Amino acid sequence: MKYTTSLADQYIALNSGAVNPRYLPYYHLCAPVGWINDPNGFCFFKGRYHLFCQFHPYDSVWGPMHWAHWSSDNLLHWTMLPVALAPDTPADSYGCFSGTIISKNGLMYLAYTGAVLTGGDMRQQQCMALSWDGIHFKKHPANPIITPDMLPPNHSSIDFRDPRLIKTPDGYSMLVASRKGNDGAVVSFSSKDLENWTFENTLFEQPCSMIECPDLYELDGCKVLCFCIEKISPDGLRFPNRFPVVYVVMDDMNARSFPEAIDHGLDFYAPQSLLCPDGQRVMIGWMRTWGIEEPTHYLGHGWAGTLTLPRELHMKNGRLLQKPLCELKKLRAVHRQFDAMPVHNSRVRLVESGADAAELTVALSSEDGSPVQVRLMESEDEYFSVIYAAHDRTLTVDRSRCGYQMRENNLDEAKPWTTASVPGENGCIQLHIFIDRCSVEIFVDDGALVMSSLCFPKSNNYGISICCEGRAFIRHAELWHLSATNTQ
Ligand code: FRU
Repeated sequence: MKYTTSLADQYIALNSGAVNPRYLPYYHLCAPVGWINDPNGFCFFKGRYHLFCQFHPYDSVWGPMHWAHWSSDNLLHWTMLPVALAPDTPADSYGCFSGTIISKNGLMYLAYTGAVLTGGDMRQQQCMALSWDGIHFKKHPANPIITPDMLPPNHSSIDFRDPRLIKTPDGYSMLVASRKGNDGAVVSFSSKDLENWTFENTLFEQPCSMIECPDLYELDGCKVLCFCIEKISPDGLRFPNRFPVVYVVMDDMNARSFPEAIDHGLDFYAPQSLLCPDGQRVMIGWMRTWGIEEPTHYLGHGWAGTLTLPRELHMKNGRLLQKPLCELKKLRAVHRQFDAMPVHNSRVRLVESGADAAELTVALSSEDGSPVQVRLMESEDEYFSVIYAAHDRTLTVDRSRCGYQMRENNLDEAKPWTTASVPGENGCIQLHIFIDRCSVEIFVDDGALVMSSLCFPKSNNYGISICCEGRAFIRHAELWHLSATNTQ
C-alpha cells in the first residue's frame, strides 16, 4: 500500500465517525480512528500549542507510522489538523518514528526517525521536516541528515531513534536513543543551523536492552534526563512493569541518582515535555505500555490509544513532583462535597453511578493499620481497586476485577495490578484522581507519586465507594463531574 498524508486525511474523514464510542475518553486526547502511541513534537509555535503523535490510521494496532497533529490554545481543548507526516520517502519508507520540534526564525524544525528496511534489515536514521505555517510539512531534500555511520563503532544502526532537539547557547544539540554494545545509550550531536550535524559524545549509558525517547531539561535548578527503558527485569517496587519511564538527575552530564520511575501505574510510556511560555514545564505521556493488546482493538472498536493529562513538573529535594495542569480546574462542572466520616468494617458509597468523567480528591487515614480500598468504576460485579496499606505505606492499583482485561502479547509480562511505595511517613494519604471512561490517573500527596492505568469496565455504571475491614477514616472527599473536551 502507498502512504501519503492526504490518503490518511481522507481515511480519517471517512472512518472516524464509525469508531465505537463506548470507551472514547471525554477529556483525554485519543486516536480519532486507528492507533496512536508516543506523543511527538510537543511545542509552542506562533501563539498555539502543538502536539503530534505516532499514528497508524488504518488499524487499531501499531503499523506504518504517520504523525497525527493537534493544536490548542490552552492544552485542554485540541483541534485535529491534517496529518503531518506519512512514510512516503525512501528515507522513512518503513515509518516516521518519534521525534521533536523546535522553532527558529518563524519556522518549525521537526526531527524524526526515518525507519527503513533494507534486505530485511532494519535501519534507523534521523530526518528533518520543515513547516512555515505550522500545518504543512516539507521533508528536507537531504534526508537522512544523520545516519548510523556517523556513530562511533559499537553503536547499533538498528536501534537509533527518537531525536530530541535542544537549543544550546551556541547552536543546537540533538539527543538520540541508541544501543552501545549490550547497553542502552543516549548519544549527542551538535549543529549551528539544525541541518548539518556532528557527533559529540555518548552522554549516558544504562544496562538494559534499549533506551527510548530521551528528554533532557533544567527543572528548578536540576538537570533532569528522562527516558524509557525497554524490557528491564522486575526490581521490587522500584519499577511498575518491564517498560518503565525513569528519570535521573545529572551532574556535569554524569548521572547523580539511580533511575527512578516517573509513573508507577500500569500504563505510561514515551512522555514529552515542553517549557511553556509562562515558564512552567509540562509533560504528556502515552497512557499505555508495550506487550499488551487492549480491548478497543480486540473488541473491534476501531481505535486504540490515549494520552495522559498534561502534568506540571517540579523538582523538590531531588525528587520529581507531577501535578495535574492547573487549567484542568476549568473543566469542573457539578460538584459534591462529602462529610468527614469513619469507615469501620464497612463500605461507604460516595456515588452510585455516573462518575465516568470525574475528578475525586480524597484524604484517608487508617486508624489501626488496616488497608483502605477505594473502588472506582464500580457496578454490582466489578470495580477498579486502589488500596492504601498504611502499615507499609504502599498504594496498589488493580484492574483484575474490572471489565475487559488487557490481553498479553507475552504471557509472563503483563500483570493486572501494581504496587508502589508512597514517599513520606505520614499515616494519612491524599489521592487526587481523574477518571475518564477507560482510564484512571492518580496523583498522590501533591504529586510525589503518580499512577496511571487503563481499565475497560463492562458496565456503564461508574460508581465510587470506599471500604475498610478495620478502622479507617475519610477526612475529606470532594467530587467534580468534568466537562468533555473531545467532540468525536
Ligand atoms: C516508543 C517507540 C519509539 C519509536 C516509536 C515507534 O514507544 O518504540 O522508540 O520511535 O515508539 O512507533
